[in-house]
Amino acid sequence: MKQKKKQGSFIRLIKYMFHYYPVQLIVVMVCIIINSIASVAATAFLQRLIDECITPGITSGMGAVWSKLVSILITMGCIYVLGVVAAFIYTRIMAVVTQGMLKHFRTDMFDHMETLPIRYFDTHAHGDIMSTYTNDTDALRQMIGQSLPQMFHAILAMISIIALMLYYSLWLTLVVVVFAVAMLLITEKFGGASSHYMVAQQQSLADEEGFIEEIMDGQKVVKVFCHEEDSKEDFVKLNDKLFEDSKKAHTYGNILGPILNNVGNLMYVILALVGAVLVYFRVTNIGLAGIGIISTGIIVSFLSLARQFSQTISQISMQVSMIAMGIAGAGRVFELMDEEPEQDEGYVTLVNAQRDEHGNLTEADHVTGLWAWKHPHKESQSVTYTELKGDIQMDHVDFGYEPDTLVLHDISLYAKPGQKIAFVGATGAGKTTITNLINRFYDIEDGKIRYDGININKIKKPDLRHSLGIVLQDVNLFTGTVMENIRYGRLDATDEECIAAAKLTNADSFITRLPNGYQTELSGNGSSLSQGQRQLISIARAAVANPPCMILDEATSSIDTRTETLVQDGMDNLMEGKTVFVIAHRLSTVRNSQAIMVLDHGRIIERGSHDALISEKGTYYQLYTGAFELE
Ligand SMILES: Nc1ncnc2c1ncn2[C@@H]1O[C@H](COP(=O)(O)OP(=O)(O)OP(=O)(O)O)[C@@H](O)[C@H]1O
Ligand SMILES: [Mg+2]
Repeated sequence: MKQKKKQGSFIRLIKYMFHYYPVQLIVVMVCIIINSIASVAATAFLQRLIDECITPGITSGMGAVWSKLVSILITMGCIYVLGVVAAFIYTRIMAVVTQGMLKHFRTDMFDHMETLPIRYFDTHAHGDIMSTYTNDTDALRQMIGQSLPQMFHAILAMISIIALMLYYSLWLTLVVVVFAVAMLLITEKFGGASSHYMVAQQQSLADEEGFIEEIMDGQKVVKVFCHEEDSKEDFVKLNDKLFEDSKKAHTYGNILGPILNNVGNLMYVILALVGAVLVYFRVTNIGLAGIGIISTGIIVSFLSLARQFSQTISQISMQVSMIAMGIAGAGRVFELMDEEPEQDEGYVTLVNAQRDEHGNLTEADHVTGLWAWKHPHKESQSVTYTELKGDIQMDHVDFGYEPDTLVLHDISLYAKPGQKIAFVGATGAGKTTITNLINRFYDIEDGKIRYDGININKIKKPDLRHSLGIVLQDVNLFTGTVMENIRYGRLDATDEECIAAAKLTNADSFITRLPNGYQTELSGNGSSLSQGQRQLISIARAAVANPPCMILDEATSSIDTRTETLVQDGMDNLMEGKTVFVIAHRLSTVRNSQAIMVLDHGRIIERGSHDALISEKGTYYQLYTGAFELE
């Protein structure tokens, strides 16, 4: 199974390369063929040089020998030059192909990663995903740039060497074959071990990188709890593992070369001995039945071929572990590319709309400020338009992150445009989960969610998310200016619109006090700002999108109550006629909501207005008056 997967990755890698660089790779292959044949062919002329010029030189006329010598030397020179030119061309092309392939790999991986559902990121360590982009592509670089061309070259050279050897002498070739088998066995033993540890080293490196990343992110926590020494110890363990794997990988790899060289030398000596015996038979004219009698030139050429042969085997052995690493890397890269993308079977889209003279909605080709859901009907071949209002309804919704453990049970609620719905409840009650379902980060198990009367499964996900303004519980700011971070909410917003949104959400006053105002550069998730300031930016970001429905998940949790009131006033203006879902732990945030849903272990246990719930003296009353603790 594992073997099959490896072969699969290898073949897929080759296909992938040919997909992007067919012409270049064919040129490279032709050049490698020329180069490897040239290096063997030059040796063949060595034999002619000795047998036709040097040996007879003593007896025959000098003139004839000289002209032959010159012609052979010129031919040899031409072959060498051809080989060098071919090598020059293919190494140049391969440098471009290798870097180009890495670029394509990274782009394709990233493009694919952006199609993956949130669930993928929940279930995979981020350091591990990162290492696919760094370590695994680096292993691929080695393999594509070095190992593959060298292997191809080596295999061709071996075939031509063996062919030429057979042409010269069957018996001497047999000696070489015996040694070749021994060398391959040695390569398998030591090279196999080296490959095993090379692949292990790759994993250890990924683990170590993941650890460093985690410790850097959590540096404050490490310091607060004085865990510096512990983290050093943990690091030493990981680092030792990496050292052990790398040490073994390189030890086995390094001893392989000298062993093969010595076996090669032994072969050289034995060939020279056997060859000498055969030449002796020729000189003394003692014919041996069945054993070809050979010339000095053949022996010299043969020895030179044998040298090339053992060098080629050494070359292959050096590449074995690189190829194992490359294939393992390719396997992980393809694994990421094969992850099931987020499915979107939606066909209802969001379009600009306008009203005709009869008051009916029609599609407009420009921004009108009015939006409609375009709903094509297959059976009747017609299209209906429904105004985007932000009317959300949930009917008996069940949901679980894992198939067999439900987090939400039988949730039913409705929110009319202009209404503010609040979710309250203890930590882990399922508040964020409900909002994750509205924007379809996850799909529900049972029940229905309707948006303006349309089942949200029918709405294209990007269009659905476009219609929602979401302030997530975890604030994420990107590297760039404050302005750019606000504009993230709607990329075509002008500077004025961004500033207006910031003013509305009361972010403007602190932004203008920053050293460069709206042009202040943020990095490291906005770590130079306070938690509350980061939240204000993320609220402004949602406000600039100006969607008909807003989801604010603990959006004001780090903002002081005075600023919060200002933010709320601004938001209330913005939110007129729009649906707002708020999740908050603070009474002040939720008390002016039309409906408050109290969640407990994934069920709505109370619902109603603030006053009604307070007078009920139930869970809501306990949560917000502290009566819970008092009792
Ligand atoms: N990605 C996830 N995978 C698996 N389970 C999850 C995931 N996210 C949340 N849960 C679980 O779902 C339950 C509800 O979590 P949720 O985030 O909705 O709580 P919450 O009400 O928003 O809490 P808080 O007030 O702390 O934000 C929790 O028990 C939590 O363990
Ligand atoms: Mg939450």
